[in-house]
Amino acid sequence: MSPLSGTPSATPGQPNASTAPAQPIAPATPAEPNSPATPAQPNAPATPAEPNSPATPAECSVAGPDTPTDAARLGPPSGPDGIGTTATHPAHAQGHWARYNAGHGDRDIRETLRRALDLAGPGRDRTAVDLGCGAGRETRALLEAGWRVHAYDSEPTMLSATDRTHPALTAHLLAFEQITELPPADLIYAGYALPYQPRHSFDRLWTLIRAALRPAGLIAVDLFGVHDAWAGSPNMTFLTAAEAAALATGLTTEHWHEEDEVGPAFSGPKHWHVFELIARRR
Ligand SMILES: C[S@@+](CC[C@H](N)C(=O)[O-])C[C@H]1O[C@@H](n2cnc3c(N)ncnc32)[C@H](O)[C@@H]1O
Repeated sequence: MSPLSGTPSATPGQPNASTAPAQPIAPATPAEPNSPATPAQPNAPATPAEPNSPATPAECSVAGPDTPTDAARLGPPSGPDGIGTTATHPAHAQGHWARYNAGHGDRDIRETLRRALDLAGPGRDRTAVDLGCGAGRETRALLEAGWRVHAYDSEPTMLSATDRTHPALTAHLLAFEQITELPPADLIYAGYALPYQPRHSFDRLWTLIRAALRPAGLIAVDLFGVHDAWAGSPNMTFLTAAEAAALATGLTTEHWHEEDEVGPAFSGPKHWHVFELIARRR
């Protein structure tokens, strides 16, 4: 069975996990772990490459460790103007996310998660979900804070910065589009990940997120807005402020920050439109 088939994959080292993998997650062996701007990774493409839209190495070497915010801002593989011009998920096919995640093992944790951890307190064996976990820097922080973590990503090199044998970790090698349910959770986090799916998939996954959230549980996410320079890129989701705020309908909004301005990126200044949303179930 393909690692991108609909069956969740359990973390290697978790033989008792109910979601035992038909095919284990590929070992985390990026060719040059400290150099995001590397040639394609050895992992087999999940999707056919888009011949007219190569992800250049430069796009993947987004920032150094002192600029974690910019490092997060890897857009879709882009055309010469830096604005996404590609079709469906070429990133995986071209090793884009593998190269990106290879540079994210040791940076500071994302601000949205830091705030959520402050709000939530120690994990004490409560359950957290990390959607689009990438290298797993935030997954690691959750484990260290005492959470049991279910981490999801469609990139086979996922969790390269995490101890995948950690007994409190369950990995799910799945595309967002393939997730059919989420475990009941006290904290559901998604750092710069949910926009990388079509709107219908985003809406479906948000319904699953809301259904999985336990009373007093927190949702903490980074979302992209319609003013972003990448808005209009196919197979991504960009929201108006009203749409993003409405995602928390019926919840208590604990944190809301909208960034809507030009800022630095590896390929040069661009317009960023990003919402940080943390909301709590009553
Ligand atoms: C910008 S990175 C963010 C990774 C990590 N959360 C962080 O903050 O560094 C986006 C992550 O989402 C994953 N991703 C992108 N599209 C996805 C999809 N449709 N389904 C599942 N994961 C996806 C990528 O593999 C990548 O690891």
